[in-house]
Amino acid sequence: MASTASAGESGWLVFASMTDLPPNHHAHYRQFSGVFGYLAGFTMIIGRGRDARLVAEIANMDASEHVLDIGCGPGTAARLAAGRGARVTGVDPAEPMLRIARLLTRLARPAGDIDWVRASAERLTLLDDSVTLCWSLASVHHWPDLTAGLSEVQRVLRPGGSFIALEKRTQPGATGNASHGWTPDQADAFAEMLTDQGFTSAEVSNHDLGRRRVVVVAGHTS
Ligand SMILES: C[S@@+](CC[C@H](N)C(=O)[O-])C[C@H]1O[C@@H](n2cnc3c(N)ncnc32)[C@H](O)[C@@H]1O
Repeated sequence: MASTASAGESGWLVFASMTDLPPNHHAHYRQFSGVFGYLAGFTMIIGRGRDARLVAEIANMDASEHVLDIGCGPGTAARLAAGRGARVTGVDPAEPMLRIARLLTRLARPAGDIDWVRASAERLTLLDDSVTLCWSLASVHHWPDLTAGLSEVQRVLRPGGSFIALEKRTQPGATGNASHGWTPDQADAFAEMLTDQGFTSAEVSNHDLGRRRVVVVAGHTS
């Protein structure tokens, strides 16, 4: 088995073999900037509604929530939450994503308010204990520093809040587009990280949304 030991200064970029990549195995993927960022953002509008409905259902989301969507991209899940009356903050480090999100939101005019904020998971600009529910769809596999990102999630989440991460389910050894997501081992490793970092529990569940297969890790605080 090809083996590498890359000791990251922080976070979880430490792994034992090429078939045992960490949950943030795409941390060094190119940023969604410039023309590529806009093109990627527009492709992400398609087919993401089912992901958004699934996380809202798993989180048992209602109109009383303040939802934080980390790595919101063009904002499909954020708009779904706002359409159900929740207050929403959508965070993304990529300006093209936020521009597309704002444009689509002006057209959709959801019931609840959405604040769009340029920031990354590792450095959220929200106040302590300010959100009741946090989710991140198809984004955690890109975070450069999972330890810092999860500390921030815990800081901004009110006690009793949940953090839901959804990723496309991938096969070990997948390459290119097919590798953007989590294998079962990567999902399990991420759930273990949540409990190691102080979440009281974390569950992994698999879902088939038509031809799209996803894995969800749901962590809870008390
Ligand atoms: C594949 S897109 C998913 C977008 C959206 N959540 C969706 O499901 O359509 C991944 C998003 O994560 C964002 N991202 C990358 N690194 C991030 C980080 N460190 N913190 C927060 N978001 C990040 C990217 O800019 C991008 O918008």
